[in-house]
Amino acid sequence: MKTTPIVAATVDFSDPAAARAPSFDDLYHPRSGAFAQAQQVFLAGNGLPARWRGRERFTILETGFGLGNNFLATWAAWRDDPARCERLFFVSIEKHPLTVADLVRAHAGSPAPALARQLIDAWPPATCNLHLLDFDGGRVRLLLALGDVQAWAREIVARVDAFYLDGFTPARCPAMWDRGVFRMLARLAAPDATAATWSAARIVRDGLQGAGFVVQAAQGSGGKRDITLARYAPRFTPPAPPGRRTALQAPSHALVVGAGLAGATVAGALARQGIACTVVDRHAEPAAEASGNRAGLFHGTVLGHDGPHARLLRAAAMFGESTLRMALVRGVPGRVDGLLRLHHQLSLPAMQALLERQALPPRYVQAVSAENASRLAGVTVAQPAWFYPGGGWIDPAALVRDALATPGVSWLGATTVQRMARHGDAWQLFDADDRAIAEAPMLVLANADDALRLAALPRAWLQRQRGQVSDGPSAVAGLPRIPVASGGYVLAMGGAGLLFGATHQLDDDDASVRDSDHHENLAKAARLLGDLPLPDISTLRGRAGWRTGSADRLPLVGTAPDPRAPRPSRADAPRLLPRQPGLWLHCGLGSRGLTTAALGAELIAAQASGAPWPLEADLVDAVDPARWLLRSGLAPM
Ligand SMILES: Cc1cc2nc3c(=O)[nH]c(=O)nc-3n(C[C@H](O)[C@H](O)[C@H](O)COP(=O)(O)OP(=O)(O)OC[C@H]3O[C@@H](n4cnc5c(N)ncnc54)[C@H](O)[C@@H]3O)c2cc1C
Ligand SMILES: C[S@@+](CC[C@H](N)C(=O)[O-])C[C@H]1O[C@@H](n2cnc3c(N)ncnc32)[C@H](O)[C@@H]1O
Repeated sequence: MKTTPIVAATVDFSDPAAARAPSFDDLYHPRSGAFAQAQQVFLAGNGLPARWRGRERFTILETGFGLGNNFLATWAAWRDDPARCERLFFVSIEKHPLTVADLVRAHAGSPAPALARQLIDAWPPATCNLHLLDFDGGRVRLLLALGDVQAWAREIVARVDAFYLDGFTPARCPAMWDRGVFRMLARLAAPDATAATWSAARIVRDGLQGAGFVVQAAQGSGGKRDITLARYAPRFTPPAPPGRRTALQAPSHALVVGAGLAGATVAGALARQGIACTVVDRHAEPAAEASGNRAGLFHGTVLGHDGPHARLLRAAAMFGESTLRMALVRGVPGRVDGLLRLHHQLSLPAMQALLERQALPPRYVQAVSAENASRLAGVTVAQPAWFYPGGGWIDPAALVRDALATPGVSWLGATTVQRMARHGDAWQLFDADDRAIAEAPMLVLANADDALRLAALPRAWLQRQRGQVSDGPSAVAGLPRIPVASGGYVLAMGGAGLLFGATHQLDDDDASVRDSDHHENLAKAARLLGDLPLPDISTLRGRAGWRTGSADRLPLVGTAPDPRAPRPSRADAPRLLPRQPGLWLHCGLGSRGLTTAALGAELIAAQASGAPWPLEADLVDAVDPARWLLRSGLAPM
């Protein structure tokens, strides 16, 4: 997906009855009231709330988030309904999001002030991403797709039960009602999906009809004018390709191998979707391998080309920030106060020009001078830097334990999985004595590079790289207030000490902590912060671990491909390749697991449960493990 800079809405609030969009010469809602329209056209027109009753999950897709009134009215109706569905998903596409200040103004007299306040507090930075905003403990999820509907029409993956078509008047806003949009509705519609809109324009009725909907005119509110209602009744529905299939029925139980960040986050995400999980690990305690350092960094990424890597890390960093903040509230040690990434190649004006070109907002990233970086860090910094306000550090092992404590997750330690086998519709795990450990219809391999061995996939898809961190005493004075990174990092863990490093070694299986690595880490820290009073090497402790990553530096997340199944006649995209039923991979998190694990976990949970996918289709392809079958063919195992 080609990203485009997001231009905020210009809103004219001079008419107290309805905000106006001067660039479209149209009102955001009728003067009779936004909530009244939401009730009469969008909720009632889609048979809500009755249709969501008794359902596990219900998905709505809206074209045009605007002021968010339809979302708020729907959320309020869901809350007021004692028979509501378990989980409500609301996907909404918006090219021109409001600024926070305009959002506050738009909801000054809201009929649902408490909900409006929560929406304002969660309002994301204006970047071309699918933003996930969770409310009511995650039972209500808003997926806000910022950007042009034409671009998002091919990217959203969901099974939608009800469509709210709420672009501006077709004559003034044709892009919201064109063939690409109607084709999207047909592609995403669940078998009994419905659509509603206040527009009775011919182009709307014809568009819906052409997309396979049966269209009906209905009387609008107060008998004023016709509105359009529609029900999806296609003559033929082509099957989704293997890499785009989403469960019709979520399994009741799943097994997860690996209790590091990848396994724990996926277990937590599955359990939140109602899928109970057992997490199996060879160690007696969770987070005993790569995820066991005392602290690690998380933050976004800016690259000259806003391609899959930069976009995935941005999406992951923004979602990760909200989930990590919640973990801190539950007592996981860490801070989300920002992070500096020093830049050695680009000058400050070149960095600022890059941000301007990509229109990345300051809430996500800022280019700061060495002087300002020093002010932020509280110590002398010699280079300009990217400042990520939503970045920080966290204790990964505590995060793993926190995720394993999610209701619905159980833990089975000291159990090595030697092999797995398909038994009927389930996967069975076996230990080294070939005793059955457990079985379930769904299995997630989150055991780093060993996942490839278990799934009988080429080991060459992932490489292992040793790394040692150095852990210094807390008594050192003059530590940076926020983490400072660039080819290494220095972070002060409150009163709990100083962590810095780390080394990078290929083909190195030495688990011992080495003085030579401490020397290397001390040199890295001195390069980052020349004035840092470094601890004496005799006071240092350390920890060695292995990062597991793929050559394109993107994780392996999604259903496991089946290299033995016959290839379809057309197999030039990962999504077209056959899969092993009920089997997922979440591995290859490389050196960015703290940033990416939570979003990867949500993708797997959505694929397994039928919830809308939290990533756009081209990023799903970018992390799809099947991409390696296309790129390298079937390498020797
Ligand atoms: C020195 C160092 C510094 C790092 N710093 C950062 C940082 O600052 N920020 C950041 O984001 N990331 C950092 N990382 C990377 C981060 O730690 C990883 O991305 C992340 O921990 C990977 O999590 P994981 O769950 O995939 O792997 P792991 O944590 O290794 O978990 C895999 C689990 O699978 C289990 N397992 C394997 N095989 C089997 C089997 N057959 N049966 C049962 N159990 C099995 C293992 O016991 C292990 O617990 C660093 C890594 C290192 C080494
Ligand atoms: C009538 S308003 C939506 C009102 C909204 N549903 C609410 O409840 O407040 C129409 C919205 O469509 C958005 N829009 C217009 N053209 C668009 C496009 N090409 N892609 C995505 N959104 C677009 C506008 O910015 C505007 O916010």
